[in-house]
Amino acid sequence: MSYLPDIEAQKLLEEAKKVSENTYSPYSHFPVGAAVLTADGTIVCGTNVENASYGLTICAERIALGQAVSIGKTNIKAIAVYCKTNGSAPCGACRQFIIEFGKEVVVIFMNGEELVQRTIQELLPYAFTKEAMG
Ligand code: THU
Repeated sequence: MSYLPDIEAQKLLEEAKKVSENTYSPYSHFPVGAAVLTADGTIVCGTNVENASYGLTICAERIALGQAVSIGKTNIKAIAVYCKTNGSAPCGACRQFIIEFGKEVVVIFMNGEELVQRTIQELLPYAFTKEAMG
């Protein structure tokens, strides 16, 4: 298990909080920010992007991971997720999206006052992954 030192996890959450200010969430008014830490120490951020066709909304986690891939960084160490209610565990779809990048990716979020770190495998046991496809 390779959780981050709390100080680093908090720093990543701060980045997630900062980027949440750029949210495009005129329908839910629920800003979310995500900050991805790549293996080489790069931090890549994203926020949720909503749409008038509600179902097309993209979560912050997926925007951030897409941005990391787009700059050539697919070795993902951790992802921090921020929302103002401090209950920002990633949604089910995002868990599936995160585990694509490895079962040991560390997910960081607040659960009330508690800073939580869990591997994505802990958040999504028995996941369907590329290994299952042989
Ligand atoms: N949202 C995220 O960005 N990440 C999640 O893991 C859960 C939900 C966004 C989607 C939508 O814009 C808003 O939060 C309300 O669901």
